[in-house]
Amino acid sequence: MKKKTIKDLDARQLSGGRVLVRVDYNVPLKDGRVTDDSRIRATLPTLRHLLEHSACVILMSHVGRPKGEWKDEYSLRPAADTLAQFMDVPVRLVPDVVGSDARDAVAAMHGGEILMLENTRFLPGEETNDPHLSEQLGGMASVFVNDAFGAAHRAHASTVGAPEVMKREGKPVVAGLLMDAELRFLGNALESPERPFVAILAGAKISGKIDVIESLLPRVDHLVIGGAMANTFFRAMGLETGDSLVEEDRVEMARALLERAEDKLVLPVDCVVAEEAEPGANTRTVDREEIPGGWKALDIGPRSVARFRELLAGAQTVIWNGPMGMFEVEPFRGGTNSVARAVADITRTGATTIVGGGDTAAAVKEAGLDAKMSHVSTGGGASLEFLEGRTLPGVAVLDDRED
Ligand code: 3PG
Repeated sequence: MKKKTIKDLDARQLSGGRVLVRVDYNVPLKDGRVTDDSRIRATLPTLRHLLEHSACVILMSHVGRPKGEWKDEYSLRPAADTLAQFMDVPVRLVPDVVGSDARDAVAAMHGGEILMLENTRFLPGEETNDPHLSEQLGGMASVFVNDAFGAAHRAHASTVGAPEVMKREGKPVVAGLLMDAELRFLGNALESPERPFVAILAGAKISGKIDVIESLLPRVDHLVIGGAMANTFFRAMGLETGDSLVEEDRVEMARALLERAEDKLVLPVDCVVAEEAEPGANTRTVDREEIPGGWKALDIGPRSVARFRELLAGAQTVIWNGPMGMFEVEPFRGGTNSVARAVADITRTGATTIVGGGDTAAAVKEAGLDAKMSHVSTGGGASLEFLEGRTLPGVAVLDDRED
């Protein structure tokens, strides 16, 4: 079901009105600074639209997991400062969420201003979706906007409770432009992909991705496997894997998948191996049948890259989630970078390419190729749950579009 967005709102609903916007500013922080501002930049189109329509924009988000306690290291201060650099108006952070300071600050707002509430997870009621907290949040505004795709798999007071309260009061509860883009790209890939449709699933463990594999397998033309999870498939094929990471308790599952998927499942044919997963490690490239005892497979090799590149060259839709190797350690990032380049190349020639959030988004950004993809999701866990075919509670609560 399609969801209403801020573009469906009437100018009168926005002008001078209080608009409560849930964003996902759960961004990486180091020494009090934001080290990756992608999630903040991704919300700018929504914020600009609301400000252009003279709304009073009240932002709320969580950052980290402070577990219901006020902890300075989880303040939204760094996020507020980063956002301020992109905006023409000041971003005021109020050191409160729903108390009298927050309410007074909201009451004093004028159209075209932005106010940020402190970390919603400073309050114990956020994660328990407490009805009283939801009432307090919902009472602050006349419109609710969810632009926090990354947190839409959480049924918390700021993502579900508050919009439910507002809905009951007849207030609009709509998607922001980032949320809308995420739902469009990921939803189209699941429901009506242009073919051939190739999914690349990688990362350390099958256990974390099994539901995505099950959901995508019937929908795709090819499912490419990379990362350490390929080792578990190698073992299921009866190959020696040396000291590589293998999920022993998933070997049977991998065997069953190999049988069921037949030639839809595409595995690496060679790997970069090392004795240690360390920056200066001595590495070798070997066929998957020749992983030496005592060595670990830590990246895909050049023959695998060539094979994957060939498959991708014919694809019209690609979803990629998970790095091909231990990309954070220099000698093992080649496979991930090569796949990133291959995906960027087919984007240029017209394919729709979607990169799942989290590690893969970070890897693509580090390779300087994020702007060359059709869409880089801001959701880590949320994009995985979406691809598993699950309904995200933060999306379900939004107003449906009639058409
Ligand atoms: C994320 O970064 O995936 C979201 O912000 C959700 O954070 P959480 O896993 O702490 O709920």
